[in-house]
Amino acid sequence: MLGIIGGSGVYELSDIADAVEKKTVETEYGSVEVSILNIESKKVAFISRHLEGHKIPPHMINYKANIQALKNLGVTQIISTSAVGSINLDMAPGSFVLVNNFLDFTVLRDKTFFDDEVHHLDMSEPYCPRLREIICSCMDDKESIFDNGTYICTEGPRFETPAEIKMFQLFEGDVVGMTGLPEVVFAREKEMCYQTICLVTNFGTSISENILTHDEVAEMMDVKKDVLLTLLHKVILKLDDNFDCFCLHALDY
Ligand code: HPA
Repeated sequence: MLGIIGGSGVYELSDIADAVEKKTVETEYGSVEVSILNIESKKVAFISRHLEGHKIPPHMINYKANIQALKNLGVTQIISTSAVGSINLDMAPGSFVLVNNFLDFTVLRDKTFFDDEVHHLDMSEPYCPRLREIICSCMDDKESIFDNGTYICTEGPRFETPAEIKMFQLFEGDVVGMTGLPEVVFAREKEMCYQTICLVTNFGTSISENILTHDEVAEMMDVKKDVLLTLLHKVILKLDDNFDCFCLHALDY
């Protein structure tokens, strides 16, 4: 089954689903509200990261429970959506970025499932290249999608200072957000394919002349939501449960 984790602005997928069944999945890390969607012949498990009404801030999300809940449901591949600020002038607000690398600046989060076993997972391809290629092929407007980029994850919930943005640019990051980590690592630790679709909602602090607010982020999400839902719908129909990928064998290496 495919799992989708919706970020800011994507709190449900009923617009593209034929039927929705809501359930609570209990895991050893906490319980998670999951919607099981029927979309034509496909079944999709959907989790809203922040919940409807944007109630959970990035540093309080139970990333471990969310990934474990999808694993318990038999999910083998996950697509997530994330609103991000751009620090790369070529990636203007309104662009989609399929990141293929990350820099983790989070400091408070629980970062691994492996506290009692030793696993040093390879991170040369932290996101799934197979999913990235499929998502890119489903995007109609090729001008507004980038098929790689480096995601910088901050702890939040505050936005960045101008000095932080300058440092992130020197580190050659492309987009900055608050929720990408440790989600991507947890998915790999649970041997699931994972790719996030970043939607650039704004330029980073001090690149843009405006003072950055969550309203600016929410407004761009609203503008682009239909494009994002159309993309997700096409990707869902294209993905098959019958596949193999190195992500499914991450612990063998
Ligand atoms: N910074 C961090 N997170 C974000 C931003 C940003 O500029 N925009 C949307 N999420």
